[in-house]
Amino acid sequence: MQTAASRILLTGGSGFIGSHLTRHLLASRPQPQIVNLDLLTYCGNLSNLEDCSWQPNYRFVKGDICDEALLDQLFLDHEFDTVIHLAAESHVDRSIVNPLEFVRTNVLGTASLLQAARNHWKSSYAGKCFYHVSTDEVFGTLSDGQEAFKETTPYSPRSPYAASKAASDHLVRSFQESFGLPTKVSNCSNNYGPNQFPEKLIPLCINNILTQKPIPVYGRGDNIRDWLYVDDHVTAIDLILHRGRVGETYNIGGKCELRNIDLVRQLCQAMDQELGRPPAFSEGLIRFVEDRQGHDYRYAVDCSKVCLELQWQPSVSFAQGLRRTVQWYLENRKWVEEITSGAYQTYYERQYSLKLAGPGQIKGSAS
Ligand code: NAD
Ligand code: DAU
Repeated sequence: MQTAASRILLTGGSGFIGSHLTRHLLASRPQPQIVNLDLLTYCGNLSNLEDCSWQPNYRFVKGDICDEALLDQLFLDHEFDTVIHLAAESHVDRSIVNPLEFVRTNVLGTASLLQAARNHWKSSYAGKCFYHVSTDEVFGTLSDGQEAFKETTPYSPRSPYAASKAASDHLVRSFQESFGLPTKVSNCSNNYGPNQFPEKLIPLCINNILTQKPIPVYGRGDNIRDWLYVDDHVTAIDLILHRGRVGETYNIGGKCELRNIDLVRQLCQAMDQELGRPPAFSEGLIRFVEDRQGHDYRYAVDCSKVCLELQWQPSVSFAQGLRRTVQWYLENRKWVEEITSGAYQTYYERQYSLKLAGPGQIKGSAS
């Protein structure tokens, strides 16, 4: 079924994947109206969408997906036909330190959004779509040689992050089954690219290599992840949103399994070349450190369904994507410096006071 997606509530648009997706959709034809609802937690950064902030079809709202009154007001004001839900706590290490924050945002937040969509759409679900962006981590961990995750693989989450995302996926499907809410879900592997918060493996390593700090590799570095350049994830979401079947789940993956240690060595080489350092200079910074608790060994995604049904393919090779990512971080050092210094968190106040009287329509929450 084709989805028009003309009035979109997009959550988490100031984060890593959400900002790339918002920019992509804003440039599409016919142009949709997009409201980006984002709480600007530690990983939300308004500067990620600075170039889009003045577009007449874009509006930023600072607010919490758990705030039912705000959601109600937004649905009333904007008459959304589409929700694309990305807002989440997304870092596994943080979920081990603070699981409850993940339950609140990822489980309660998703339930609140589903409930708002149901309340406002129940008179007619025609032309409506609730698209939930999820992760391959819900499927658990694989051993060497074990078959890649399929859409039918039973869920077996092993970290509080993965468990909270699994719960959110179940809630989405339960609203489809119980109330007929038209939903779509995709489960994607590890993304990388510009604007990724520097707590995740690739941007953390880039920053440490640049500043010649130790590169922490968990355990022996033999864990395996499947890597996808963020723009390829965005094109898959676009295809599924507009042409995917309602009620279906699609796995998205990069067809690019790498051991962490091999990835880190490749990154060291790419950085040494870019920085004109001697070969193998940065590999000397690698340190094997205490392993992550419950560290999933291997993820691999069978994405043949989206490839066959919607003719999607990852288009950026890992070597190309890594080069682009490294170059972006080197050309945008200020972006990381503002995170390190905390300056990025004052961006909202600066933008808000500057633009209050202008046409940019940056709004505060309902409170
Ligand atoms: P991110 O951490 O970079 O961004 C998350 C965004 O959500 C931030 O802008 C944050 O401010 C916002 N947010 C957090 N709590 C909120 C709340 N209560 N209300 C409103 N906004 C809130 O995350 P990301 O890496 O861009 O991931 C986006 C989505 O994609 C997540 O749902 C994640 O589970 C999923 N995903 C990520 C990857 C990956 O490799 N990064 C892979 C597969 C799926
Ligand atoms: O698989 C999709 C998931 O990928 C997304 O759902 C998550 O939101 C995203 O954060 C990512 O989860 P990972 O835990 O795989 O990503 P992270 O970058 O934290 O770690 C990647 C691998 O690198 C993992 O095996 C742990 C290891 N690692 C990570 C860090 C931060 C290290 O060895 N050292 C580190 O400092």
